[in-house]
Amino acid sequence: MEKKKFGVLNDGTEISLYTLKNADGMTARVADLGATLVSLELKDADGVVRDVVLGYDTPQEYVDNTCYFGAVIGRSANRIDKGRFVLGGRMYQLAVNDNENNLHSGPDGYDIRRWEVVQQDGSSITFALDSPDGDQGFPGDFHVEIQYTLTDEDELILHYTGISGADTVANLTNHSYFNLAGHESGPILDQTLMLAADAYTPVIDSQAIPTGEIAPVKGTPMDFTAAKPIGRDIGADFEQLRFGQGYDHNFALRGEAGTKRKMAEAFCEKTGIRMEAFTDCPGVQFYAGNFITEHKGKGGAVYGPRQGFCLESQYYPNSVNQEGFASPLLKAGEKYDTTTSYKFSVK
Ligand code: BGC
Repeated sequence: MEKKKFGVLNDGTEISLYTLKNADGMTARVADLGATLVSLELKDADGVVRDVVLGYDTPQEYVDNTCYFGAVIGRSANRIDKGRFVLGGRMYQLAVNDNENNLHSGPDGYDIRRWEVVQQDGSSITFALDSPDGDQGFPGDFHVEIQYTLTDEDELILHYTGISGADTVANLTNHSYFNLAGHESGPILDQTLMLAADAYTPVIDSQAIPTGEIAPVKGTPMDFTAAKPIGRDIGADFEQLRFGQGYDHNFALRGEAGTKRKMAEAFCEKTGIRMEAFTDCPGVQFYAGNFITEHKGKGGAVYGPRQGFCLESQYYPNSVNQEGFASPLLKAGEKYDTTTSYKFSVK
C-alpha cells in the first residue's frame, strides 16, 4: 500500500493519503482526514484514465468547503428536524447548522476528523474513530470503523462497523460526488441513472425535512425505476423539485434492508463508464449537486452546480423522529454493521 503525505492542516495536523490498487489498474486514494475518498481512477472505453469523483488537491480545502466531497459522514448523515430527538426519555439537542435543522451531524462532523489507520494491505484499508459520549450532542461513546476494499472486479466496497457504550443514533454514509465523464468535465445531466426505488420520502419545504409520507414515484419526475438522463426531468414543474432546486431526496429502496441489493446504476455514454451501486441500507439520498457553488477543485478543475451526483446510502432523513421510518437507533453493545459498494465496468 502506497502511503504519502497529503498535506498539513492550518492547525498543524498532518494528513496522509493511501492508494488502493487492483489487478485491473484501477486505483482509489483515501485520506485519513474524514476517511475521505479523494480519487477513483479507471480507464474509460478509449483507454483514457478518468478520475470519477470530485475532490481537492489539499486537505485544508476539505475542511474549508461545505460540500463534503468524498467524506464519511457521521454520527448521523442527513437532516434531523430542529437538531433534536428524544431517546430513553431524554431530549438531546444537536447543533443547528442547516436552516433550523441539523445536517450531517453539525459543524464538527466525522468528515473533518483525522481517523486512525488500524489495518491495511494492498487492496483494503480500515480507518477507526473514537467518538466520545456527548460528541456532537449524541449519547454513548461510539467506536466506529470503515474499511475500504478495492476488488479485482473493480468494486469499491465500504464496510462500516461500530459499537456504542449507550443507546445512540448511528447512520453513516459516504458523500462522494460522482461524475462518470471525469471529475473535471462539467455537468452530469446527460449521464443516466436508475434507482431501485418505487417510492421516495417527500419533504415539507425547502428545508428538506420529510413529511413522513412514503410516496410512489410512478407518474412523477422522481421516477428513476427505468434509467433516464439525470437532466431529463430535473427542471420539471414539480413542487418537490423546486424545494430541492433539483433532485435532493431520499429514495426508499426496494427489498429487505439488512441484505445487500442493488440501489442504483449510472452510465456515461461519452466514456462508456458504468457504475452499479449496492447497499444493505433502507434508503439512498440522491443529490444532483444542485448547491455546488463555483469553486476550484482537483488539478485546476472548476466545479459548479450539478457537476457531480451523490448516492448516499442511509436510514431515511430524520428517521430518529419519524415512527413510520426504519429506526437508526443502535442499542448499547450491539454491532453497527453496514455495507455499500460501487462497481465499475466499461462498455
Ligand atoms: C444534502 C444536500 C446538501 C449536501 C451538501 C446532501 O447530503 O442532501 O442538501 O446540500 O449534502 O451539504
